[in-house]
Amino acid sequence: MVTGVGVDLSHISTISEVKGFCGNDQIEEALTGCDLVIIPAGIPRKPGMTRDDLFKINAGIVRDLVQSVAKYCPNAILNIISNPVNSTVPIAAEVMKKNDCYDPKKILGVTTLDVMRAKTFVAALRPEDIKDVTMCDVPVVGGHAGTTIIPLLSQVTPKLSKPFEGEELTALVTRIQNAGTEVVDAKAGAGSATLSMALAAENMATSCLRAMSGEKGIVECAYVASEVIPELAFFASKCELGENGVEKVLGCGEMDSYEKVQVSNAVAELKSSIDKGVEFANA
Ligand code: LMR
Repeated sequence: MVTGVGVDLSHISTISEVKGFCGNDQIEEALTGCDLVIIPAGIPRKPGMTRDDLFKINAGIVRDLVQSVAKYCPNAILNIISNPVNSTVPIAAEVMKKNDCYDPKKILGVTTLDVMRAKTFVAALRPEDIKDVTMCDVPVVGGHAGTTIIPLLSQVTPKLSKPFEGEELTALVTRIQNAGTEVVDAKAGAGSATLSMALAAENMATSCLRAMSGEKGIVECAYVASEVIPELAFFASKCELGENGVEKVLGCGEMDSYEKVQVSNAVAELKSSIDKGVEFANA
């Protein structure tokens, strides 16, 4: 039977069959047999809050859901959207470790909306180079909170005839980093991004499913277990997806000096968010 928000989803014309489940009594039925689990659950920000302010409530929600994943579909790939992503992904990893089913390739923090926003804003500023925003790419690395969101504007494709620099560059980077807050403020207490985030989640899930079905060459930015920055167990960068999740972490490519400083400035915050998640999961 389709219930709740499932009824809304069931009207979308795809080949998917929609079923709705609700509450802990139905979590076993919901998860058994899943190959891909998307976790967007949690409370949203209100104006004035950071994503980290959600930790107290969302950390426990993610821990408990991932505990059920470990029990009922331990081999599933996880797409984690619940904030603060910089901490909830490490929480998920620790829970899977405790249950002896951790596969670092299978836990992906969804940072796709950062990439979508970067593409949208870049295309608006450079219409002469980017005729079609869907053909544009902007890698975004680091994490998914404030200044840990680092767009690599030196790597925009198609190549820009006038690169971003000076005040235009700093204003654009700041806008991309604060884009989630822009939505939170605009919704004035009614939550954070839902529609753009739903499309971002769909893009990421579709990429995972295509790669799981054997399609090659699918690349997405995601916050994953990585050795790109030696001090950080998790970091967002380009990843090649495969049948089992992250086939290869591709890293940041050739960054310019401004981007290198941004990455190095983000290390302390990312490390503390990762440690906070790991400590919580093991407490
Ligand atoms: C976003 O980037 O829109 C989400 O992470 C939600 C938020 O709190 O900003």
